[in-house]
Amino acid sequence: MAHRCIDSPEVSRRRVCREHGASRFSTTAMPMEWTWASLNAGTYLLLCFLILFIILTYPRRRKNVPPGPALFPLIGNLPSLASRQPLEKFSQLRKQYGDVYGVYIGKDLTVVINGYDAIHEALIKRGKVFSMRPRSEFHQIMFKDPGIVFANGRLWKEHRKFAQMALNEFGYEWTERTMEDRINDELSHFLNKIRSYSGPFDVSELLTLSVANVISGILFGRRCEYDDPCFVACLNSVGEAAKLFSTSGVLMSCFPWLRQMPGDLLGLNKLDEIRRKPKDFLKFVFSWHSSVSARPEVQGVLGMYKQEIEAGRRNGHPEVFNETTMRAFMGELLSAGSETTATCIVWIVLYLILNPELQQKLQAHIDDVIENGRPPSLADRKHLPLVEATILEGLRIAPVAPLSVPHSVHEDVNFRGFLIPAETTVLINIHSVLKDPCIFEDPDVFRPERFLNSDGNLDVPKEFLPFSIGRRSCLGESLARMELFLCVTSLLQNFTMTTPENEPTPSREGVLGMTFCPGHFKMVAKPRSK
Ligand code: HEM
Repeated sequence: MAHRCIDSPEVSRRRVCREHGASRFSTTAMPMEWTWASLNAGTYLLLCFLILFIILTYPRRRKNVPPGPALFPLIGNLPSLASRQPLEKFSQLRKQYGDVYGVYIGKDLTVVINGYDAIHEALIKRGKVFSMRPRSEFHQIMFKDPGIVFANGRLWKEHRKFAQMALNEFGYEWTERTMEDRINDELSHFLNKIRSYSGPFDVSELLTLSVANVISGILFGRRCEYDDPCFVACLNSVGEAAKLFSTSGVLMSCFPWLRQMPGDLLGLNKLDEIRRKPKDFLKFVFSWHSSVSARPEVQGVLGMYKQEIEAGRRNGHPEVFNETTMRAFMGELLSAGSETTATCIVWIVLYLILNPELQQKLQAHIDDVIENGRPPSLADRKHLPLVEATILEGLRIAPVAPLSVPHSVHEDVNFRGFLIPAETTVLINIHSVLKDPCIFEDPDVFRPERFLNSDGNLDVPKEFLPFSIGRRSCLGESLARMELFLCVTSLLQNFTMTTPENEPTPSREGVLGMTFCPGHFKMVAKPRSK
């Protein structure tokens, strides 16, 4: 058949194909253009293999597990969670799927429990099953030789009992130096350091060092200088471990086979380097402690722990208290006790800077109650309800552990009609309670008065749970509350805190890492005349 050649090449090509009854994918007339038929057999095979791989590895929700967003191959729900503000994402998911939902990080299911009723049901009514910590491969790599926070079973039970007893004894009972004295001593160093700054400064690192010194005094019977490189490196390693946890942990859940590949694709080799810093610090304090252990005032929790090791050896049970668990236990208490409390104080300072009238009102109260500028005492607490309410509001509006520490179940559990399979990570969404508008009206507004009744006395609703609840609840809550009161009161008593001239006011937006912390900001602390 003849063709008129006045059409465009494309039109004439299509006509040629139709007229010859050829397939739409015929390529005879268009050597330069891509068509499916241009693929060779090898490429087809590769494509088929890829499609088969995606179908086979396509994650499906196990029957009856809590609902959640649609899954993507390999990465699960990561796209639904990716956000600069992950806590807001968690709130949206609660609105969509209810108080108990499940998200997949790669192939691993994580169940998130939201709202006071569901959290209470899990941690109090069914506390035994929900009081475990995860023991996935990644957790076992990260928290090899756990001491207390990531321990399970008998090891955890015995260490929790021991820690409660030791903190109580070193807090109030038989030691001559009460916890209040220890904190006030450290605060005098902290306040002097602030006085030495002539211009704007970032208070967060100084606060972490100072709070860590309080716990170091309780554990080892000594404090460190703020510029001690070994001490500083030890505390910085907590943040470095948190970063590694969030990147490598997610990668390992999505692509577990990366671990078997040559090279260190997951960056886990860095872990040894990060772990070396607290190890070096602990080695130094342990050897210092041994050299002065005859002095009763430096015994600390470490001295008591050494006695437990001896007792375990004598009774033929060295598996719970030994040198390895001692290092882990001391390291975990040091980091759990520093980062959280310090971050909480930084948030309170931030909100005080943003609310200068509140700052003035608090200063007037403090000046009324604490005569002659003496250091505050814990006995002043009941006379300063607005200071207490400000601290509670800081703990509420910016919870430093908004998803608590991960929990887990070690057997299949039926919860509210859903299956939570054994070894699932369970996140307790404390943030969902502390920001619940049905419990705390206008939850994003900083309003300490919400914790005061009409007589001006403290009135705290039962739903206030920044330290979590149940068997795993924070072990250092009373110590943290003492530190918060003494530190915030001393700061207000001694300084007026403001934003430096020509600097933007600090942002209320936080960053979620190991703790939920504010972005870096600088402040000016103007000494108050006494
Ligand atoms: C403002 C300060 C603090 C806050 C908001 C806070 C909050 C929390 C939270 C939410 C948990 C997880 C509870 C759970 O898993 O359900 C926790 C656990 C823990 N906290 Fe704190 N904490 C603070 C200060 C401290 C201090 C000063 C210590 C030091 C002694 C400490 C020691 C611990 C320990 C050892 C655990 C693990 C308990 C266990 O697994 O049995 N915390 N904390």
